[in-house]
Amino acid sequence: MKYDVDKFNAYFAEHPADISIDDIDMARIPRHVSCIMDGNGRWATARGLSRGEGHKAGILALQEVITACVRMGVDVLSAYAFSTENWNRPQAEVNLLMHLFAKTFVDELPLLKRENVRVEFLGDISALPKKTRDVFEYGLEQTRSHTGMTLALAVNYGARAELTRAARLIAEDVASGRLAPEDVDDSAVASRLYTSDLPDPELVIRTSGEMRVSNYLLWQIAYSEFYITDTYWPDFDRWGLVRAIAAFQGRDRRFGGLSAQ
Ligand code: IPE
Ligand code: IPE
Ligand code: MG
Repeated sequence: MKYDVDKFNAYFAEHPADISIDDIDMARIPRHVSCIMDGNGRWATARGLSRGEGHKAGILALQEVITACVRMGVDVLSAYAFSTENWNRPQAEVNLLMHLFAKTFVDELPLLKRENVRVEFLGDISALPKKTRDVFEYGLEQTRSHTGMTLALAVNYGARAELTRAARLIAEDVASGRLAPEDVDDSAVASRLYTSDLPDPELVIRTSGEMRVSNYLLWQIAYSEFYITDTYWPDFDRWGLVRAIAAFQGRDRRFGGLSAQ
């Protein structure tokens, strides 16, 4: 996607000693960057704060990464905000997260509008508390016609639930005669996923050092490159993103074939 060179240069002007924007090739920015935003709780605990403070700080980090991706011309930024398993957390934490999602979304809508960002949700948002759901639906409607970056927020998302839903939709189409069993191929599955209109992520970033996928985008990450950093999500910033992209650009992506070099 096109980006504004002046805004880009201004946003990345002051850089830390170990990295600068010259370390990445702007012609090879990944189209779709995906973040598993992990470590809010541990970030807070390490500072003697409540987990809720960690989630609030995590939202600020997401705001920075959204802006950084817009400045770089990333087409799609997806972010794992709440998994189908996160309902197992204490009710108070779940309630706080749902409240924060609604509140932040309202607060951030002007930014999304200003930056021409289109929002979509991955996951079953119909199961969210009414207020959160209403705000999300309003945001969807308000940003639907935007033509800039797509921000795909995974909320009440689980890849197994997504894949079983796709299987159910295929079964219904086959049972009703709309789809022949022999036509069930990769694209029949992909078109029934929440990500049906998105390219697969080229780069998946997981913060807080965990070496696992935690039921995220199992189908879509078949050939994604992984970048795992020990940084807790609230400390992840534009430079963390630049480091991740620099690492991504150093990888030899073979897709089962032989190296291009
Ligand atoms: C990620 O941070 C945010 C959500 C899963 C909602 P965590 O809350 O998982 O933080 P840790 O892993 O306990 O540090
Ligand atoms: C993954 O983080 C889900 C999100 C970031 C929303 P978790 O903290 O829930 O994952 P586990 O429990 O460490 O696998
Ligand atoms: Mg976690």
